[in-house]
Amino acid sequence: MVKIKNSSQIKGIKKSSRLAATALQYLSDFIRPGITTQFLDDLAVKFIAKHGAVAAPLNYDGFPKSTCTSVNNVVCHGIPSPHQKLKNGDIINIDITTILDGYYGDTSATFPVGQISPANKKLLEVTKKAMELSIKAVKPGLHLNDCVGKIIEPYVKKFNYSVVRELGGHGVGLKFHEDPFVFHFDTNRHNIILKPGMIFTIEPMINASPDWRISIDRKDGWTVRTLDGFNSAQFEHTILVTPTGSEILTKL
Ligand code: MF3
Ligand code: CO
Ligand code: CO
Repeated sequence: MVKIKNSSQIKGIKKSSRLAATALQYLSDFIRPGITTQFLDDLAVKFIAKHGAVAAPLNYDGFPKSTCTSVNNVVCHGIPSPHQKLKNGDIINIDITTILDGYYGDTSATFPVGQISPANKKLLEVTKKAMELSIKAVKPGLHLNDCVGKIIEPYVKKFNYSVVRELGGHGVGLKFHEDPFVFHFDTNRHNIILKPGMIFTIEPMINASPDWRISIDRKDGWTVRTLDGFNSAQFEHTILVTPTGSEILTKL
């Protein structure tokens, strides 16, 4: 069941989402060759605590850190580590989810580390654009798949990229992951009709090859990688369906 949030819940989710976005922007200033992903995680913990909130990932289903940091061929759920130093030319997705007064906000973006290749630049550009095109399509009365999968998949296919299928967006706000599951590829299903007050994420994971398949690290149980080793990028916003369209709650 997809929940319709009431106005006091929307107020709380807006505050938390704004904090997540602020934290992400704060972290982005520190990205440079030589820092570790653990350093970014430490900064996030302090920033979020200073604003009276906590990070949702820590201990979520046993996740060991407070943010996800996913570098190059890591699709998502990368675990920050003091042993992982960023290098010139890397791309890194930082995913922040905050809990403020019990409300959740979820956002991520993929950033360049130093100077990146034209191929990586294109991947970031196209992935961000795919998310934005989908967000712009969101309107009450429309089917979720028509606004998300039907827009994102054909768009990225033009660049010979692919949409990761096993992971998707999700309802969010009162819990970390709520209904609906948001597929970023075209499911050809018309089961969810958007209504004002729905809140969910759009967070396409786009692989820089036509192969959408992934593998999950057997040792840590979390790190998701592209099967073929090509890079993958992701951008994520928390979206509110409004009476006239949508509002991006994680935009500053
Ligand atoms: N923030 C991720 C998302 O966008 C979920 C991370 S789950 C975690 O849905 F356990 F790794 F934190
Ligand atoms: Co999410
Ligand atoms: Co997220």
